[in-house]
Amino acid sequence: MFNFEDKVVIVTGGARGIGFAIANSFAKNGATAIILDLNQDVIDDAVKKIDDAGNKAVGFVADVTNSESVKAIFKDIFKQFGKIDALINNAGITKDGLLMKMKESDWQMVIDVNLKGTFNCTQAVSRFMLKQRFGSILNIASVIGIMGNAGQSNYAASKGGVIAFTKSVAKEFAPRNVRVNSIAPGFIQTEMTEKLPKEVVDNYAKAIPLSRMGVAEDVADLCMFLASQKANYITGQTINVDGGLIM
Ligand SMILES: NC(=O)c1ccc[n+]([C@@H]2O[C@H](COP(=O)([O-])OP(=O)(O)OC[C@H]3O[C@@H](n4cnc5c(N)ncnc54)[C@H](O)[C@@H]3O)[C@@H](O)[C@H]2O)c1
Repeated sequence: MFNFEDKVVIVTGGARGIGFAIANSFAKNGATAIILDLNQDVIDDAVKKIDDAGNKAVGFVADVTNSESVKAIFKDIFKQFGKIDALINNAGITKDGLLMKMKESDWQMVIDVNLKGTFNCTQAVSRFMLKQRFGSILNIASVIGIMGNAGQSNYAASKGGVIAFTKSVAKEFAPRNVRVNSIAPGFIQTEMTEKLPKEVVDNYAKAIPLSRMGVAEDVADLCMFLASQKANYITGQTINVDGGLIM
C-alpha cells in the first residue's frame, strides 16, 4: 500500500514485538529494514523471517544506551547505504515498581534505554539527515507518558520525556525538511505486556472503548503513514494508537 522502494529505515529494538512488526512492514513495502537490537541470535532470526518472505533486512548488534557505539554503527550504515530515510526509536524497557520502593538502578535503566537511547540515536542520525535535507524520525512513546500509571513512574517519566523531546527536535529539524513525530501506543500484545497478570489486562481492556488490546501491526501501520510522503505536513505530533483509551 505504501511505496518505500529504495528507502533505508533503521528500527531500534527491531528484533521482536512492535519493533519487528515495524521493520517487517517497511520491508514488505519495499524498504531495506535495518534492525538494531541487543542479541545477535534474535536479530538473525528476525532478519531471516524478513529474508524468507523475499524482502530486505540487515541487522546490527547495538545497545542504544551506548552513545559511542551508536555513533559508529550509524556511520557504518550511512557509508554502506548512502542515506538514511527514516529512524524509528522503538527500543524500550519497563522496570515497574511503586516509587517508595523503586531502586535507583531501576529508575536509571529505564531512563537510559527509553529516553537517552532516543537521544543517542536521534543525535547520531541527525548529522546525516540534516545534511541530506530529508528524513522522518518516529519515537515510540506510550499512553503512560501522557496519563501516568501507578507503579510506572520511571517509565512514565521516560515516555513523557520522549514526547517533549520530539516537539523540541521537530522545531530544530523542520528547517531542514526532517520531520519528527511520536506514537503513543496503548496496550499492545507483545512480550512486554505478556508479563502483566491476567486481571490487570482484563481491567485495562474494560477501560478501552474498543474493548481489546492492540496488536503490533496497529502501531506499524501508523509508522507507514507517518514515514511516508502522505504525512509530509505533519511534524512535532504525538498520535495515540490505543483503541480510544485516551481521548
Ligand atoms: N507493548 C505495549 O503495550 C507498549 C505500549 C506502549 C509503548 N510501548 C513501547 O513500544 C516499544 C516496543 O515495545 P514492545 O512491547 O515491542 O517490547 P519488547 O520488550 O517486546 O521489545 C523491545 C525490544 O527492544 C530491545 N531493546 C531493549 N533494550 C535495548 C537496548 N538498550 N538497545 C537496543 N535494543 C534494546 C529488546 O531486546 C527487544 O527486542 C517500547 O518502546 C515500549 O515502551 C509498548
